[in-house]
Amino acid sequence: MGDEFVPPGIDPTVMSHARAYDYVLGGKDNYAVDREAAGAVMALAPDLPVLGNAQRRFLLRVTRMCAEAGIDQFLDIGAGLPTAPNVHETAKAIDPDARVVYVDYDPLVTVHNSALLAGIPGVVSIEGDVRDPDSIMAAPEVVKLIDWDRPVLLLFVGLFHLVGDGDDPAGIVARFRDRAAPGSHIMLSQFCSDGSDPSARAKLEEISADSPSPMRFRTREHIASFFEGLDVLDPGVVDVQDWWPDESAPPTGLKVAAGVGVVR
Ligand SMILES: C[S@@+](CC[C@H](N)C(=O)[O-])C[C@H]1O[C@@H](n2cnc3c(N)ncnc32)[C@H](O)[C@@H]1O
Repeated sequence: MGDEFVPPGIDPTVMSHARAYDYVLGGKDNYAVDREAAGAVMALAPDLPVLGNAQRRFLLRVTRMCAEAGIDQFLDIGAGLPTAPNVHETAKAIDPDARVVYVDYDPLVTVHNSALLAGIPGVVSIEGDVRDPDSIMAAPEVVKLIDWDRPVLLLFVGLFHLVGDGDDPAGIVARFRDRAAPGSHIMLSQFCSDGSDPSARAKLEEISADSPSPMRFRTREHIASFFEGLDVLDPGVVDVQDWWPDESAPPTGLKVAAGVGVVR
């Protein structure tokens, strides 16, 4: 995107988590305000891109695992800006009929994803807020593409550190868990305070304090509690680099905890 192009309804002077994360992953869909924020954190945690890429690999690995096990519907909430390969490319490589709904509350994400996904059967991007699970489940695109009587993969990757305790992340997961058919998988990851470098963590919390979603680190134990009522797959809730690593992923100064649970 360059600073010269600003889609209608987008304020390029307010930091966006989606665009800052895009910058960390090496993307181009970001503005100066996002690069400045991400750069301030990377000055203290230069390996943040390594962590971001480890989280993307976790997302793709679990998507592949579920598609290979026969899951053919995917609801990716807090989907972020397009990063290739994405969930639909990975799932459709295994099952061309796989259906994918991307959801994000950032309108820019929907603008970009919708342009990119136009004409791909069974794949859509919609605006939605995870803090209102019922309105996501009632969205016409979700009603059309997701059959809740059959297993689905629900993705909440890199999302819940942007959702406050007052918005009850465990309750949000439980709402989707109760709607999803047995055999459905729920994957989630978020920044974890256990083992994270304190100064880099403080910087991340400081730069996001005035954004619409301030960043919140949580203990691994707290994050594990979001899986209540689910059968958590091995190796449990662990550093994202350690969730079934398929290639060497070095440890990082900031930590993201990740896990996958199965609906009973
Ligand atoms: C760090 S990015 C993660 C993107 C992607 N899931 C990944 O792992 O590559 C977090 C995304 O969550 C979105 N987000 C934050 N709060 C949200 C909310 N309440 N509802 C839906 N999306 C949200 C942001 O706009 C951003 O795109």
